[in-house]
Amino acid sequence: MVNTKVTLSGITLDNPVIPASGTFGYGYEFAELYDINILGTFSFKGTTKDPRFGNPTPRIAECPAGMINSVGLQNPGVDKVISEELPKLAKVFHKPVIANVSGFSIEEYAHTCALLDKEPQVGILEVNVSCPNVHHGGMSFGTDPEAAAAVTRAVKAVTTKPVYIKLTPNVTDIVSIAKACEEAGADGIALINTMMGMRIDLKTKKPVIANKMGGFSGSAIFPVAVRMVYQVAEAVNIPVIGMGGVSSAEDVIEMMLAGATAVEIGAANLVNPYICKEIIEDLPRVMEKYNIKDLNEIIGGARK
Ligand code: SIN
Repeated sequence: MVNTKVTLSGITLDNPVIPASGTFGYGYEFAELYDINILGTFSFKGTTKDPRFGNPTPRIAECPAGMINSVGLQNPGVDKVISEELPKLAKVFHKPVIANVSGFSIEEYAHTCALLDKEPQVGILEVNVSCPNVHHGGMSFGTDPEAAAAVTRAVKAVTTKPVYIKLTPNVTDIVSIAKACEEAGADGIALINTMMGMRIDLKTKKPVIANKMGGFSGSAIFPVAVRMVYQVAEAVNIPVIGMGGVSSAEDVIEMMLAGATAVEIGAANLVNPYICKEIIEDLPRVMEKYNIKDLNEIIGGARK
């Protein structure tokens, strides 16, 4: 019998497996495929103050070991998420959910987080200062330590629930940004979002994606994510949620050895919608194989 339970800011998860924002909608669609209550939790689609149609198509480019997306934060807006999406979710998911929030100004982040903070289903606010697909806001707040800290402070001032800041890898020094967020009051850090990438169609000789560039994710970025999780976890004293190219129970364990308390799975959901279920079912076997009795004992183990 192994222990897969982990705790994020006082919230105990049955296991560390969390579908990542943007790859799991608002959850209830996946409930048609399997009982999503087996998940640790999940992070819902990046939600903004106002509804967003998203970027022009094509928005997706396939790559040998991953994909590029430029969705552009398509979502129905926070009011509809609260009035329509969360009630639908409540019927099928009975655990605290992670609310992923994006914004185009500090005030917008604070407004959206304050509203979601009041929702009983929301356990953690994941503040996305790392979307590479919008021309202002998004990633621009996550590439500068002071801007990331300002968003953190503004959100913390109007919320009561744990606030995790989701960081972009598209920076030279992710550690300084993570530390600035911690000093500004963040309860945790989530990393990494996608890496900026681009494909060009040889027939048209033009970018594949209408927005030209997008966020690259999938197994190709896993070693980069492990490196950044390791560096950030070493530098901060708050929990880290690790993500980026995770697609197996072995990857979950590697990410935890790097310092993650919980692990998000993104692009792999789009290839195999059952991947999180399969990873959860496989985790005890892989733990036994590597003589791990309790996942809590391995968090940051690679540093010891
Ligand atoms: C998107 O909606 O463009 C993706 C969100 C993100 O990468 O943060």
